[in-house]
Parts: sequence; structure tokens; C-alpha cells
Amino acid sequence: MANHPTGLATASGVVDAALFSQLVGDQQPDPQALASLAAAELRFAELDQAEHAAALARAAAVNQTELRPSGPHRADDWERGWAENLQLLAAGAPDALVPKYNRHEVLRLAGRYVQALTPQFEYQLYTALRHHWFGRWFGDLTHVVEFGCGTGTSLELLAARFPDLELLGLDWASSSQQILAQLAARTGAQLAGRRFDMFHPDPTLQLPAGAGVFTSAALEQLGADHGPLLDYLLRQQPAVVVHLEPILERYDPAEPFDAVARDYHLRRNYLRGYLPALQRLAAQRRIELLAVQRSGFGSFHHEGYTAVVWRPRRGGTA
Ligand SMILES: C[S@@+](CC[C@H](N)C(=O)[O-])C[C@H]1O[C@@H](n2cnc3c(N)ncnc32)[C@H](O)[C@@H]1O
Repeated sequence: MANHPTGLATASGVVDAALFSQLVGDQQPDPQALASLAAAELRFAELDQAEHAAALARAAAVNQTELRPSGPHRADDWERGWAENLQLLAAGAPDALVPKYNRHEVLRLAGRYVQALTPQFEYQLYTALRHHWFGRWFGDLTHVVEFGCGTGTSLELLAARFPDLELLGLDWASSSQQILAQLAARTGAQLAGRRFDMFHPDPTLQLPAGAGVFTSAALEQLGADHGPLLDYLLRQQPAVVVHLEPILERYDPAEPFDAVARDYHLRRNYLRGYLPALQRLAAQRRIELLAVQRSGFGSFHHEGYTAVVWRPRRGGTA
């Protein structure tokens, strides 16, 4: 059973509106998402059967290497990593804020590996996806808070698109807050940063009333330890929560193409049990689960772009 778009990668060798519609599960994607997609002209080549088999074998071989699991011990790594981006920003380097891990050339798309032919293919398609979900859920809000915001590229996108939005970026790495301060000073965006550890949410941080919450590849880092953050979010009663995250439970372990990504996900200790936790809360009528959309798009190793959208029901906290 494939629970993602399939059989699309051969269509035209370019990510067009038809393919994008399938990635987001919407016949009428957000116009700004389509505009960014058209401007980026994202071209790719199909791999032939032998190349595809070789890519699958390479991914499986990577899984046998010593992969660093996520967890509380990684805080210093993120601090150092974003400090490098901060230096690039200060030096005026183009794309200083684009994380290095968004730069694969063989990618997962619609159930196949494809060879990206356009520079920054993954990052640009990720941007179109963000535009889609931002346009769907954040257009009418006054505040958005991003958890695990890193170098703040999503906050930058939001600030450019919705200049009246007040934005708060949370991360446990202080270099993230330094980057956000520079961004705010340079662009005049209504953007602030604050240190926050998702493993130990600070109950004194009150989200603004009616705030939207966004996470991208951030809950990913929590493994099975997402309970404290979920409890915190339930207490805060945000207007809507939008995640773009790798969701373990959407892979089909019986499909080799899925199994290899699932294996990678588990070896990196990425997010697990979160969607089932939301589904239980929805069954108890404590939240509304508004969308679960596996895009079928990912890096070489796994698919980080499944959209999960939910909101607490009023009075639905424990
Ligand atoms: C893969 S990066 C994603 C960054 C950003 N959301 C993006 O899409 O570019 C993961 C981010 O989560 C942050 N992070 C990981 N664990 C965290 C925790 N327990 N509390 C707060 N931030 C955390 C890291 O510092 C990093 O900025």
C-alpha cells in the first residue's frame, strides 16, 4: 500500500503544478507556492533500473555506517553548526542560512529516487511546500511561533509574505537567536528569538493568544520524547499547529523503498509515536486533526516533508 503520490516522477521531468498538487493533496495549491515553483523550474531525471537499484543499495549501505542519533546530547552540535551559518551571514555569503543538509542531488520523489538537475532543488521544493501550508493556515493570524527554528529561513519566508505577522523563533541553540537578531535588524521584520528546549518546555513562555505554531524537521529531533512538548502545546491552546516533519508511521515497511528510509529514520532516533499520539487525542476529541499529507518528497535518506496540521479543541485539555 503506497500512502504517497506514486508514478508521477516520469511525467515531465519538471515539478509542475499537477505534480505539486499531488504532493500537497490539493487540486488548488496555494498561488504563491505555484509561483515559487514556476520561478524555480525544478528539473529532474529519472534513474534507470540499474541506477535506481544502486541508489537503494547505497542508501542501505549508509544505514550500516555509524549514524549519529538525535537526542539531548546533540545540543552542542547544533550550537556549533548554526554558529558557522552565523559567520557566513556576517561575511555576506549568499545562501548563508540554507542548512547544509538540504543539498542532496539524488532525492526521493513520488515513490522513486530521482536525480535533481536544478541547483538547490530540495530547498526550493521545500520552500514551495512551506508556501502552500503557510498560505493555507497562517494567512489570517497575527502571530506565528516556530519551535526548533534553526537559521530562521521559514520565519524569513513568513515575514516576507505576511509583513504584519509577529514572529517568534525558538531554539535551544543560542547561535539561532543571534542569527534571528541579525535578520530582524537587516530586514526590519517583526521577528524575535528566544532560547527554548523542547525536551523541557518552559511553562513561563505563554504563546500569544491565537498564535499559529510551526515546526519543520524539529520534532524530528525528539525521537520518542515528544510528550512534554505536546502537553505544553495542549496547555497553550494555539489556533493551529502545522508540522512539516518525517513521520515514521507513514512508511510502509513492506516496501523496500520505504523500508530503507524507515531504517535510516530509526537509526537517527527521529520522531516516533507522535502521529499516533495525535490520533489518540483526536479520538478523545481533545484536538482536531486537520490534515496528514505525506508529500512523497524527501532527501536521499528519508522523507522529512509530511504535513500534519491540528488544533486543540476549546476546553479540550486534560
Ligand atoms: C534539522 S534542524 C531544522 C531547523 C529549521 N526548523 C529548518 O527547517 O531549517 C533541527 C533544529 O531543531 C533544534 N532542536 C533540536 N532539538 C531541540 C530541542 N530539544 N529544543 C529546541 N530546539 C531543538 C536544533 O537546534 C535545530 O535548529
